[in-house]
Amino acid sequence: MQFSLSIPVFVCAFLDVILAADVRSSNPAIIMVPGAFHSPQVFDKVKHQLSQDKFLDPIALPSVGHVVGRQPDIEAVKSVLYKHLNAGRDVVLVGNSYGCTVIGEAVKGAPRYSASSSSALVAGSKARGRIVSLIYLAGYIPTIQEVDHPETKQDIHFVSPALFKYHDNTGEVTSDGDKDLPPQKAFYNLLPTKEADYWTSKLSFSSFDALNATATYIPYAGDFNVVYVVGSQDKSVPPAWAQTFIDQPGARFTVEHLDADHVSMLSKPKEVTDLIVKYSKHSVFRHYYDTIG
Ligand SMILES: *[C@@H]1O[C@H](CO)[C@@H](O)[C@H](O)[C@H]1NC(C)=O
Repeated sequence: MQFSLSIPVFVCAFLDVILAADVRSSNPAIIMVPGAFHSPQVFDKVKHQLSQDKFLDPIALPSVGHVVGRQPDIEAVKSVLYKHLNAGRDVVLVGNSYGCTVIGEAVKGAPRYSASSSSALVAGSKARGRIVSLIYLAGYIPTIQEVDHPETKQDIHFVSPALFKYHDNTGEVTSDGDKDLPPQKAFYNLLPTKEADYWTSKLSFSSFDALNATATYIPYAGDFNVVYVVGSQDKSVPPAWAQTFIDQPGARFTVEHLDADHVSMLSKPKEVTDLIVKYSKHSVFRHYYDTIG
């Protein structure tokens, strides 16, 4: 009698452990950060597809619609990030374009799953969650060179996409700088015309100081699991440009290719959702750990 009672109790306790471990690794909080000029609504389609996940946090960047530096953008992400980590919850950060620059800076010093930490908890962070991955959708990101040698970083006037239009008197940058490539074509070339017009009407200015700031940290040189998603029909960060980020000496990206434009969350929400689900499990990076030792 005693024996037959203890087996179910034991099995339940065992299942609890398995389920807890599974929830922890497969259902992390997802922080979503849009690019310059964009509102967090660009993640609505993906958010809807992910809605069984409890913690979905699209972030409104302070530098969109306000003239501020980059730090408020970073702080906006960090406050949500640490809320989850301190609650013991793992986190995936998804960025689009300039949003990738912001998440890359926000994770500096944060607890992580990575090659060096393996599956052991980072010292001193026993009860905390960890960062599973960063997903760069068409990342417009700092290079290793400009972080290692900030004096070599160029003013964005000289290195930004042609669509950036500078309003030097106000500190604002808008996305209508290229007559041949209006936002409808630069960002939303795979959307139906009406929808491309709708999202274009939602664009705001971005703050020059936020876009031109110098990054202080590179998360993709081995510290974190970083996935770079290249859009084969992206007109803002075209595949050849994305490849220059990927090919940097010392860069360690997991690379994915989508038949997508620049704002893939709107044109390919299903595919983007699938990638988020895939890279929400730190175990998918294990093969990668093996490869780099
Ligand atoms: C933009 O950044 C560059 C390089 O960091 C810096 O030299 C330049 O002064 C900045 N431009 C403005 C207008 O602040």
